[in-house]
Amino acid sequence: MTAALQQLKPAFRIESVATTNNGVQIVWKDGHESFYHNLWLLDSCRSPKFFHRDTLSLNSGHDVLKMPLNPTPEEVKLDREGNLDIVWGGEQTGHRSVFDASWLRVHCYNDPALKQRRPPQLWDSSVSVPYFDCHEVMNDDGVLLSFLNKIVDMGVAIIENAPKNEESFRGLVERVGPLRQRYHPTNVFTMDRSNAKAQAIQHSYQVGTLRNHTDVTAYDIPTGLQFLECILYENPDNDRQAYSTVVDGFKLAEVIKTENPCFFELLTTEYIPAGRKRLSVEEKLSENESSAWKYEWDAYRRNHLINLDENGDVYQIRYNHNTRIPLEVSYDKIEDLLAAYRRFSELLQDPKYNTEFLLAPGQVLVVDNWRVLHGRTGIWNPSLQRILLGAYLEEESFRCRRRILLGDKTGMSDLWLMGCSDRALEILADRHL
Ligand SMILES: [Fe+2]
Repeated sequence: MTAALQQLKPAFRIESVATTNNGVQIVWKDGHESFYHNLWLLDSCRSPKFFHRDTLSLNSGHDVLKMPLNPTPEEVKLDREGNLDIVWGGEQTGHRSVFDASWLRVHCYNDPALKQRRPPQLWDSSVSVPYFDCHEVMNDDGVLLSFLNKIVDMGVAIIENAPKNEESFRGLVERVGPLRQRYHPTNVFTMDRSNAKAQAIQHSYQVGTLRNHTDVTAYDIPTGLQFLECILYENPDNDRQAYSTVVDGFKLAEVIKTENPCFFELLTTEYIPAGRKRLSVEEKLSENESSAWKYEWDAYRRNHLINLDENGDVYQIRYNHNTRIPLEVSYDKIEDLLAAYRRFSELLQDPKYNTEFLLAPGQVLVVDNWRVLHGRTGIWNPSLQRILLGAYLEEESFRCRRRILLGDKTGMSDLWLMGCSDRALEILADRHL
């Protein structure tokens, strides 16, 4: 046995292999048993004949029309590194497939845990929002991964000690991935209460309370992460005006499911549509542009407020009361649907679930916009000054960065890392003793 193999947990080391009717049985050193169908094994083969090592994708040798439907192995054994080594017979005589043992373990059919997401940690207003240091996030991949893991687990984090300028803010967001293009000339927006033009077209700039919401509910795919950095907060009243608020939407979904399953059913199956129309922009156009036509938008989307994945788990909340448009619901369901919507809206403002804190200059609030609803307490004093920098990141960009960092931790090659599920990568990142 090689030294590298000895450093792996028993779950990733093969005890024995045997052939079965249509496949291969593996017993692992932790006692778990796996069965892999011969057809699945041949179809998944990553030999150079089937799989291009540079593009990391199937090549022309992998021809599904020529794939035998009942491939038979001629020889099945473990190689020196403890990996599964198959030499095929029949129509595939001479074709050899070697499968990395750890990769096989996270592709086991018999492990239902692999099909599920890492369970979220639901929270209420007693939550301790996790804090990270900006310099550490910028310079240490381990801290960056811890931060992204917290976003997956809780949907919210604060990065502190951030420089208070747009260039650094952009650098922080791009440490995770490219900024999402907005329907505006700029992708970093400055939410400055003294911006009269913005106040006229954006309710988030206006005085009063900003109710908890998710952003861009009227788009097909809402923004994944939202970054908001405070660079100025001067409150002459020294009270709790313009404090940030956040609520765990997944927690509210659970509360509704427990207290009224009918409401949960309605909010996951009926539509709460959203619309947004904007024919101007809040920033000054550049010197080269005289018309804002390319930033005009008129969006409409039929949404469920609570969205479920294939396992019936909540994966996305979409709620913004300001951008809601007339309900599309049958005559007999309107009363129940609006009652369910009202209950969710009530929970959103409930001090039991609604967390309130000052986002101080140099702090960056990061929320998963598919889960956590954000808002702020009211502004009543017109001389209160507050400036936020904001930017969006696609859900995909955030997930990709995390997958790459998890992959780095596994010590495995890209040949085996590519195409693993997020859950598989999380498990593989922890495969060493
Ligand atoms: Fe918002």
